Amino acid sequence: MDMFIIQGGTRLRGDITISGAKNAALPIMAACLLTRHECVIRSVPDLADTQHLIKLLETLGAKIWRDESDALHIKVEDESCCLADYESVRRMRASICVLGPLLARRHLAEVSMPGGCAIGDRPINLHLRGLEALGTQKISLESGNIVAESPYLKGSEVFLGGPFGSTVLGTANILSAATLARGRTVIESAACEPEIVDLGNFLNSLGAKITGHGTPRITIDGVEELQGSDYEIIPDRIEAGTFMVAAAITNGELTLHNCRTEHLMAVIDRLNLIGVEVERLTNAVRVSSARRLNPVDITTQPYPGFPTDLQAQLMALLCLADGNSIITEKIFPDRFMHIAELNRMGARLRKEGPTVVVQGVRELIGAPVMASDLRASAALVLAGMVAQGQTEVRRVYHIDRGYYGIEDKLNKVGAHIERVKE
Ligand code: EPZ
Repeated sequence: MDMFIIQGGTRLRGDITISGAKNAALPIMAACLLTRHECVIRSVPDLADTQHLIKLLETLGAKIWRDESDALHIKVEDESCCLADYESVRRMRASICVLGPLLARRHLAEVSMPGGCAIGDRPINLHLRGLEALGTQKISLESGNIVAESPYLKGSEVFLGGPFGSTVLGTANILSAATLARGRTVIESAACEPEIVDLGNFLNSLGAKITGHGTPRITIDGVEELQGSDYEIIPDRIEAGTFMVAAAITNGELTLHNCRTEHLMAVIDRLNLIGVEVERLTNAVRVSSARRLNPVDITTQPYPGFPTDLQAQLMALLCLADGNSIITEKIFPDRFMHIAELNRMGARLRKEGPTVVVQGVRELIGAPVMASDLRASAALVLAGMVAQGQTEVRRVYHIDRGYYGIEDKLNKVGAHIERVKE
């Protein structure tokens, strides 16, 4: 397994280009199962997660290749296999996003129930309730696999609200499935994330009839068949937010290119209160910070609220604020594996249920730490870049799932991160 050895204390300066959004790419790649025509998808980042979904789609009969411009081509050639097995889903819960497309196109889907993971329980009850509302004739649990079977789907009103707000991949599954349902579907309490907007735009480029994506009410008029498409996915707002924190935590100055600031309003709002300068440029943003950081309160919410995927990164930054901050996690209440590791580096974090008191300290001290999940790992890299001395981050395979070449991008602007075999 790989490990990062990070020498702390350098201020980052320079330019970084943001890659395509992992969480837009995954449901869009899965939606290619809805058509036999070739789809070309541009800016799909070459990550462990996207590589993993490519393998799963190939077992489901898709031919997949990248052309010389690095665009991903997906063409379904064999629709006989409808099984996404435990091995596939165990390694990436987002594999669940093949459920809706498989059922709608092949009338049968057998997908392993995703287990829990480091950030908490990953239920799919809302996905299944949505498919039931679309008239799925049979949904059962057989040896750990969800088996959904239906000769056709029927448009209807589908409510996707849950105790923690809506569901992003649940919305993706129902939105995708409804494109081939008979009649009109209205999804109430749909997720509004930019990645759902991107999926809706992609599906419309295939010939679907979707309106309202990006709002809590999405309307889909089913069609007989979908075509192919050549589509460019949106930039990764979570990668961009992570690098904004990198500029702030090292007291440096970074210009992030291919960055859609309208996707980061809640994050920019908090960063401004902390004392971080965020200058909006054309399709880019320049970020710098004063040395003194103000404490703030953060509560994670569904989009357009503060994203749970940037909670750990902001926690790392607020470890160095002048005073106490309060961070409350409303989406995944157990998403705090990074606390113990940051405390090993001299942070003063105290968890009280879904809330963490972040007592600002003067400095962090480098130490050996363990990555546990994708975004917690990013927080440890951020802390390592500002800590005094050396930090070793173990199990960086977590970070490879969602950040394309993160050490190269950061070293190019002054970081000292070395990838070694553990
Ligand atoms: C997506 O996961 C993202 N993953 C996650 O990003 C992100 O943290 C999450 O949305 C929330 O924004 C991808 O897009 C691949 P949810 P998803 O269903 O769709 C509860 C990352 O770091 N819930 O929106 O699986 C659930 O327990 C990853 O890139 C139900 O109760 O998340 C959670 O509390 C991590 N029943 C809340 O809803 C359900 O059927 C939001 O989950 C489904 C979800």
